[in-house]
Amino acid sequence: MHARKTAQTALVAFLCLVSCPPLPAFAASVPGDPAPADAADVRIESLLSRMTVEEKAGQLSLFGPADINVPNNPQAGWRNAQQETADVRAGRLTGLFNNAGLEGKRRLQQIAVNESRLGIPLIFGADVIHGFRTMFPMPLAEASSWEPALAERTARAAAVEATADGFRWTFAPMVDIARDARWGRGLEGVGEDVYLAKQFAAARVRGFQGPDLSRPDAMLATPKHFAAYGAAEGGLDYNVSDISERTLREVYLPPFRAALDAGALSVMSAFNEIGGVPSTANPALLTGVLRDEWKFKGFVVSDYTADEELVEHGYAANPREAAKQAFMAGTDVSMQSGLYIRYLPDLVASGEVPMARLDEAVRRVLHVKQKLGLFDDPMRGLDGLPAAQRAENPEFIALAREDARRSIVMLKNERMLLPLPKAGTKIALVGPFAEGTIDLMGAWSLFPGQSAPVGIDQGLRAALGPGSSVNVVRGSGIESALPGGIDAAVAAAKDADVVLLAIGESQKMSGEARSRSDIGIPQAQQDLAEAVAATGKPVVVLLSNGRAMALKGAVRNARAILVTWFLGVQTGNAIADVVFGDFNPSGRLPVSFPQTAGQVPYYYGHKRTGRPTPANAPETAFKTRFVDATNEALYPFGFGLGYSPVRYDSVELSSERMPLAGTLRVRATVTNTGQRDAEEVVQLYIAERAASVTRPVRELKGFRKLNIAPGASEQVEFTLTADDLQFIGRDLKPVVEPGEFDLWVAPSAASGIRKHFVLTRD
Ligand code: NOJ
Repeated sequence: MHARKTAQTALVAFLCLVSCPPLPAFAASVPGDPAPADAADVRIESLLSRMTVEEKAGQLSLFGPADINVPNNPQAGWRNAQQETADVRAGRLTGLFNNAGLEGKRRLQQIAVNESRLGIPLIFGADVIHGFRTMFPMPLAEASSWEPALAERTARAAAVEATADGFRWTFAPMVDIARDARWGRGLEGVGEDVYLAKQFAAARVRGFQGPDLSRPDAMLATPKHFAAYGAAEGGLDYNVSDISERTLREVYLPPFRAALDAGALSVMSAFNEIGGVPSTANPALLTGVLRDEWKFKGFVVSDYTADEELVEHGYAANPREAAKQAFMAGTDVSMQSGLYIRYLPDLVASGEVPMARLDEAVRRVLHVKQKLGLFDDPMRGLDGLPAAQRAENPEFIALAREDARRSIVMLKNERMLLPLPKAGTKIALVGPFAEGTIDLMGAWSLFPGQSAPVGIDQGLRAALGPGSSVNVVRGSGIESALPGGIDAAVAAAKDADVVLLAIGESQKMSGEARSRSDIGIPQAQQDLAEAVAATGKPVVVLLSNGRAMALKGAVRNARAILVTWFLGVQTGNAIADVVFGDFNPSGRLPVSFPQTAGQVPYYYGHKRTGRPTPANAPETAFKTRFVDATNEALYPFGFGLGYSPVRYDSVELSSERMPLAGTLRVRATVTNTGQRDAEEVVQLYIAERAASVTRPVRELKGFRKLNIAPGASEQVEFTLTADDLQFIGRDLKPVVEPGEFDLWVAPSAASGIRKHFVLTRD
């Protein structure tokens, strides 16, 4: 009986695959035909009606590749290749992730389509975070460009490369706001600001997914980690986020909303709990916010074993309970734990999980597979040459260099030490990052076929003019001294015109599970910096970093500081472009650099408190301040220098009153007072003076990147509407309250020209 039924359904499935109504994009419009969207639904409903409960649970189960441990994750749910093949054949999994190589994917897809009972294609996902083959700067670095359009281009390039390798789904963009520099994963996101994060979230989704998800080079985007993963207490990865619902809604959720509005059709749940409820089993988040409020139509995938971890959280008594809680809360797909395939059939049989909920989750997954065109062409992207055998795309390499140099932020340049003349300069390039390439790429460079990055020494040498030289001395290790290292570095410095000090954090000091309790330069390198500075030679710090750092001593006091983050494959060339002035640095900080580590969490958009420190008398007692540090950032959010100074001349408002239903135009004039072309990021901030809920001291509401010729003035105009002045009110709903506002047009969050206006009812 069972065998006959199976044969019959397989036949129906086959017939459906060859004769089901065509995909919307290709459907001829014949009057009376069902609407194209219905056609897609018919296929899905037909499949659903024929799936067993086990097959349904399989469509909700995702695994990393068999036989190898998934990079960047602990070994869990490990399976061998034989089990993997059997699972695919039996319809026990929906797809695989981070499974490099075309051949394996091709073989498994053939089995899924031709040998599984219903022929449902697999989806292959991957952590394509900052490039696939051509590695771009880390997302936080790229955010320093303040150019979402650039992030859209690099995401597109990554999608083109990854889809050619069969991956149609990326676990990106990470849109977690990160305000505590100790947290290791800040470098995967956009930093501390909500407005900036929203722009990048949307841009990256547009880039990954392209104009149409059914195109072969479109990659399904996954904003993650839902939600408030970046609010981890103490900056400790995976830790509790104990934040108010207002903060959640005002700070942590908006970038997700922006990503979904841009079309993302999957979301990854977070590892953390919020106020006692782990996000992966939080119905208020996964169903209340995502479905009821935002009408999200895609699916939610758990983070890696996050459903199983409900047991460790102390939220579920055992793995079966964990599966039930995660699933019923709204986590549709389970990553790596295997809990859904193991327990959902039984949970449905016992009535603890309604069949309707199972169908709903499967429908969501099939709907997305359908949108990706997987049913129509399951082998797309699987029949080309492996990445390593394909020629590198010179356009992407050029984009990587452009992206990298636009990601560099110049914090300091006393007496115009930079740019250095290309000719006739004796350079001592000192520090553990001076040569070699291991620590330049950034945390998520997982896949084979990537070219080695251009080292800093290589980039400098390639740019040198006549009569110049680069003497490379390591000087110290990243976290430990090298015998004789400091002596050699000092000798090289003495013999040079200028020292380029390539110091900072290794790739392994930031990223997942890489929180640091100290966000300073490791002592061995600090010692090196002090010794080199004592020679009296001018020092340029080239900082490799995955977070805002607390700089001190010789590093802080160096004549010039360039924040170079992790810049990817073109690191050395991009740094040389800036050091020698072929590119005028234009990056701006997406995170505040504090004075000391003890100030973190540190972010510009904080509240005032009842006892704010008076700006003109910071030493006043009984005010909100540390006794041993000022409240100011060392380098504020939005800050960055170029080689041509820029002056903010004037700001004019179209009126001093803005009616709720009206607009306010803000016009600023900015002048390039230097000798070179300037690129300036003009920033607009606001703050409401009094409201029914206290407001931050400043909030970014707009920015424009301007090109200004030497000596020229440019005007920039912003238009504010009531939406820009909205916040989350006492009832936790968005509200706009008439009142008095301050407004700044500024080169950073700590400066600018201030104006005042009143928001009126009418
Ligand atoms: C765990 C990470 O938190 C997540 O960002 C990543 O996508 C998954 N592992 C899969 O590698």
